[in-house]
Amino acid sequence: MSVRVNILGSGAIGGLCAAGAQLSATPFRLWPRPGSAMLTTVELINGELLNLAPESARDKPLTATDLLIVPLKVTQLKDALKAWRYSLPSESPVVLLHNGMGGMELAEKYLPDNPVFLATTSHGAFKTSTTYIRHTGKGETMLGSSPRHPTQMPLNTHIAEIMNRCIGPVTWRDDIETALWQKLAVNCAINPLTALNNIPNGELRATQYLATITTVCEEVCAVAGACKVDLNLTALTELVFNVIERTAENFSSMHQDVRHKRTTEIEGINGYIVKRAKKKGIDVPINTLLYNAVKNL
Ligand code: PAF
Repeated sequence: MSVRVNILGSGAIGGLCAAGAQLSATPFRLWPRPGSAMLTTVELINGELLNLAPESARDKPLTATDLLIVPLKVTQLKDALKAWRYSLPSESPVVLLHNGMGGMELAEKYLPDNPVFLATTSHGAFKTSTTYIRHTGKGETMLGSSPRHPTQMPLNTHIAEIMNRCIGPVTWRDDIETALWQKLAVNCAINPLTALNNIPNGELRATQYLATITTVCEEVCAVAGACKVDLNLTALTELVFNVIERTAENFSSMHQDVRHKRTTEIEGINGYIVKRAKKKGIDVPINTLLYNAVKNL
């Protein structure tokens, strides 16, 4: 099946997808948000520089065989989906790839008929300028159908194969919601603590953060359970420390957002836990504290 990949925005993860597409000779187009610059360069993990050569985005509209990858922040998603809903054929598959939660519900509202996939990645990357991305940590990507848009074979295999070229290795997850909640716990712990304390991820190994990180995991587990997603607390806490170890040198995305005075993803991360907890009548004091502290920065 022929395919063309379309990447929204000019963020770091979008840059990695573009590099993966180019290196695997998959046609791709870049669609920066209005007012944003077009990405030009990706510094690969081995230090090589890749000059991006996308197809021109203006001439041809999207067709049913065009895949739309949406690696935008959840705070940017609503405007983007609203803008795309009339120009996107309802058969075009869409992959949402962002930190935090809330994308599934927005896609249900604005793209009710498209095949929608949810993904989460542990690749590390950041922007060193408006057009230049550096790939800092090799990770992996989990992909599955949105529970609100159930999709089927052979499309699932096809999308997994394309995503594998763009931002692999990809693991297909029938339980993608569980994977998203696990990543949510990682972000709830690492992102606000690194942003508030102005530290790289690795400094969270210090004993002074142990109690906070453990409680964040307990709270996420309790809220997930109330939302019918079963997470194992010990495995979750281990996962968080494992990511801290593997990304020790990195500055988290929230740390970078705060440093560059950009909007953070706090609403979709600790903010999501606080909101869901409130609805379920669960106390989440540490997530609330971190949420308010980041909001007040
Ligand atoms: O948001 C981030 O920075 C990343 O998701 C993670 C895994 C916390 C690593 O920095």
